[in-house]
Amino acid sequence: MKVAVFGLGYVGSVTAACLAANGHDVWGVDVDTAKVDPITQGRSPVVEPGLDELVAAGVAAGRMHATTDPRLALEGADVSLICVGTPSTPSGSTDLTYIRRAVEDIAIASRTVAPPASGFHSIVIRSTVPPGTVDEVVAAVLAEHAGGDGFTFGTAMCPEFLREGSGLADFFTPPFVVVGTAEPRVGGALTELFGFLPTEVQVVDVRTAEALKYACNAFHATKVSFANEMGRIFRCYGVDSREVMRLFVQDTSLNISPTYLRPGFAFGGSCLPKDLRSVLHLARVNDTDLPLLAGTLATNDLIIRDIVDRVLAGPGREVALLGLSFKTATDDLRESPSVELAERLIGKGYNLRIYDSIVNPSRLIGANKRHVQSKLPHLERVLTDDPVEALRGADLALVSTTDTEVVDALLGCPPARTIDLSGRLGAAVEALPGYEGAGW
Ligand SMILES: NC(=O)c1ccc[n+]([C@@H]2O[C@H](COP(=O)([O-])OP(=O)(O)OC[C@H]3O[C@@H](n4cnc5c(N)ncnc54)[C@H](O)[C@@H]3O)[C@@H](O)[C@H]2O)c1
Repeated sequence: MKVAVFGLGYVGSVTAACLAANGHDVWGVDVDTAKVDPITQGRSPVVEPGLDELVAAGVAAGRMHATTDPRLALEGADVSLICVGTPSTPSGSTDLTYIRRAVEDIAIASRTVAPPASGFHSIVIRSTVPPGTVDEVVAAVLAEHAGGDGFTFGTAMCPEFLREGSGLADFFTPPFVVVGTAEPRVGGALTELFGFLPTEVQVVDVRTAEALKYACNAFHATKVSFANEMGRIFRCYGVDSREVMRLFVQDTSLNISPTYLRPGFAFGGSCLPKDLRSVLHLARVNDTDLPLLAGTLATNDLIIRDIVDRVLAGPGREVALLGLSFKTATDDLRESPSVELAERLIGKGYNLRIYDSIVNPSRLIGANKRHVQSKLPHLERVLTDDPVEALRGADLALVSTTDTEVVDALLGCPPARTIDLSGRLGAAVEALPGYEGAGW
């Protein structure tokens, strides 16, 4: 394929050289001659291990070119990969000036050059951009600056995951290749372009692809700060936190795994809130701030508050709460966020009917029965042992369980509105009118 790469910084120069090494005809474009000139001389414009050699080989083979003229790159090109910078503005927003300019350059250049044989050209953002950029910003620039007659444009987001210093290795073994597009021809072009990579190309919704890169970087930053907060607090107790984390990462079931990484409802139960409070107390007595962990408790409370606000914003006062314990398959009600949710709604005058397959009046026994009777007597009065009964007359269902009897009851007598706190109720429930996800 003929590929135009806009922006020859760290991402663009690695991308261009690696695609050239894979046999594509690659034309790099940069507004800065300090990036273009080294490539034309067979050198890398950035410091990146192995890149000098790859650029030299690509240029010598006639498969890698660099220019300041977008027209040379666009002539007959199948794909444009936009790798320009997207820096922060002083307010923290993303400056999309270079993205707009590159798209404009493509549209204007396409008026004076020959289109690819297919007539179809994919404009693909590889820079990191906020959700909505392709649909709104790129589309608006293309609407404003009409392209050449022979060109039909399709757009996509294909985030880049390389890290400086290991850019080549990362390019050739990416964690995933994700193409966000609504245009099958762009998905097809990129599947062909990146088909040599050991990872399958996953075509998804464009905003998902845009958000994914932010999710990855926010998570990586959180990991670093989490490890550093562990170091800051345990150092006060003479603990070598490197040893703690060496052991910590050996748990690939709960610690380094997909567990706990599904958006949904708040955490709770007898351990997480209690132990987080203990760590924060240890920090306080040592005059140590742990804002990440403190923020975790604050976020947890916001999740409950958001749901209460969403209930308040809707019509009706009859609520079915399906699921009461802090997770499915336990009767433990200690610090259950569903109990907190119930208490806040009852406090605001809502009428609740609560069903939980384990915490139901006929099955309450022992310590849990005593806990409900002494701490939550008002909840015991509104507990039912039948989900259909809980749903009867309800304006709204709040669902934190994935019990099959609850799913069946929702499908059998759907309420006007369902807020899914679990994210695992299945496609049939999600297709019900009035379905809302907690965070999706
Ligand atoms: N650096 C990384 O490790 C990395 C990794 C993944 C993603 N990203 C993202 O990729 C994007 C690029 O990052 P980078 O580090 O390569 O940036 P960079 O600043 O090194 O390079 C950007 C290049 O774009 C050029 N440019 C600006 N406007 C242009 C235009 N209209 N036409 C052609 N070239 C133009 C600039 O002159 C510059 O050389 C950013 O969105 C960044 O967040 C970076």
